[in-house]
Amino acid sequence: MSFLSAKRRHPAFKPLMLLVALLIVGGLYAGFAPAGKSSAEEALAPGDAAKGRELFLVGCASCHGMNGEGGSLKPDNAQPEQFAGPSLVGVGGAAVDFQVGTGRMPMANPGAQAPRKNVVYSQQQIRDLAAYVDSLGPGPQIPTEQQYAGVNPATDPEGVAKGGELFRTNCSACHNLTGQGGALPEGKYAPALTNVENKHIWEALRTGPQQMPVFSEKNLTDQDVNQIIGYLKSVDSQPNYGGFGLGGLGPVVEGLVAWVVGIGGLLLLVTWIASKGARVK
Ligand code: HEC
Ligand code: HEC
Repeated sequence: MSFLSAKRRHPAFKPLMLLVALLIVGGLYAGFAPAGKSSAEEALAPGDAAKGRELFLVGCASCHGMNGEGGSLKPDNAQPEQFAGPSLVGVGGAAVDFQVGTGRMPMANPGAQAPRKNVVYSQQQIRDLAAYVDSLGPGPQIPTEQQYAGVNPATDPEGVAKGGELFRTNCSACHNLTGQGGALPEGKYAPALTNVENKHIWEALRTGPQQMPVFSEKNLTDQDVNQIIGYLKSVDSQPNYGGFGLGGLGPVVEGLVAWVVGIGGLLLLVTWIASKGARVK
């Protein structure tokens, strides 16, 4: 145990211990991080419109009306016209799943466009809200997994190429050639399409949020949409020449590396500076 005795510690002892501690914390995090999304998705019950209505009355009715008819204004609202939500009759559960599932709704601040933010509701609650809005009038429903699975670049490279063509024809005017997004008039913007969930791509096409047109089954079949999704995913997974890619190991591993290399490196630097400082004195 002489290695551990305070006086004879090797100069690298402290930094090494810090690194070990970071690895343990990072490893614990990786171990406890939530499992893949698809298994959670399978465990969901079908949406319950009655429960959805209760959630709606609390979280959405102030802007969208007691029956989703839209336009209701809170009298004490400073900028009521910007908060007045549109009618949700006939927008369909897919619009709810997109808006609430990307955190755009409930809207928090008036502005040119409701941005993506943290998701407030659970996946089950979103299903319930969607079922309630579906009950108001027919519209596109939350898609099934096979509708948005996306073609596989390994087995269907032509499908991906076709998806790229469809993207350039229908989408690049607003979203840029590789889906990096772009500005639109009046402070609005078409967002970057990197790392958007497949389901949300399908839903954006079918429900046309904000300035985006609706692409119905007549304009683009589900097959076309799956090719576009395959194309966007292949763009996502392309090496990014600007930096140091981790080969798509996934967010948990990337987080672990950022944690250990980033914070560990900083701590090493701090300890090094501290030891220099001590010597100067
Ligand atoms: C503070 C006001 C406000 C609240 C609260 C709010 N919304 Fe909205 N909502 C809006 C506005 C304004 C728009 C239109 C602007 C936009 O989409 O950016 C909108 C748009 C939508 C759309 C898109 C409609 C379409 O035509 O595709 C859906 C769906 C929606 N909201 C659902 C909800 C749900 C569900 C909730 C509750 C969880 C909610 N909203 C809470 C103000 C609000
Ligand atoms: C006229 C311009 C326009 C065209 C054309 C257009 N979009 Fe969009 N798109 C938008 C805007 C604006 C938004 C943001 C809407 C919002 O935030 O409510 C958007 C949002 C999206 C989103 C949601 C991204 C996110 O962060 O959640 C996806 C996915 C998307 N578009 C895909 C497409 C695809 C695929 C096409 C072609 C088939 C397309 N768009 C065509 C303007 C456009």
